[in-house]
Amino acid sequence: MTLLSININKIALLRNSRGRNDPDVNAFAMRCLDLGAGGITLHPRQDQRHARYSDVGKLKTLCQLRGAELNVEGYPTPEFLAVVHQHRPTQCTLVPDAAEQLTSDHGWDLHKDGEFLRPILAELKALGIRSSLFMDYDNVDIHLAKEIGADRVELYTEPYAEHFGTAQGEIILQGFFAAAKRAQYAGLGVNAGHDLNLENLSAFLRIPNILEVSIGHAAVIECIESGVAHVLKQYTSICYTHSP
Ligand code: PXP
Repeated sequence: MTLLSININKIALLRNSRGRNDPDVNAFAMRCLDLGAGGITLHPRQDQRHARYSDVGKLKTLCQLRGAELNVEGYPTPEFLAVVHQHRPTQCTLVPDAAEQLTSDHGWDLHKDGEFLRPILAELKALGIRSSLFMDYDNVDIHLAKEIGADRVELYTEPYAEHFGTAQGEIILQGFFAAAKRAQYAGLGVNAGHDLNLENLSAFLRIPNILEVSIGHAAVIECIESGVAHVLKQYTSICYTHSP
């Protein structure tokens, strides 16, 4: 079964927009776990514009209490790694995103970055933290992730999502099948994430043995869309029955 890990960065972004603890990231995470998610993902970016490093400890406690997985992802700066070392999430996904990047938009080039990553992956292993590397599906050297010490790879699914429902999308999906197979053959577990949603997820999960999907942006939008009728009904009822 594929583990659903809900990325709660967008909830943190809403919280930060007002300066109070509202919405409460931990309470939202708890709700996701109560409703069947198997894990929580947090991606503290270098400027902490949504998830903050200080969120990690509380989420670790929550996930531990619930027997759920905590996946902390991000670029391995010394600050990021110090937080990971301190709180020891279940999984740490390393992502090659620059400080100013809007969102993650490519995977690692292991020919360029392999030797930078190798000691970091060894350290994660020594701490008992499962490691994963964010990778492009068309990277023919995905097996190198195993050689430098990663446990898993996370396939960057935006190209699949962008072309979903088109002939090109079907070709790209076949590319993802092949990438997963290459990684699994090398002994790597395979996760996936970015731009997955209620529409495109089930076709993607035809790929055998996807161990985890992390979903944030679309899930939050879908929650808003599903709730709008219920909420508006209550606001209009209050306004129309209570105003003179
Ligand atoms: N994986 C990585 C490495 C990410 O950076 C993100 C976005 O923070 C996701 C998965 C989840 O993507 P989305 O928010 O589009 O579901």
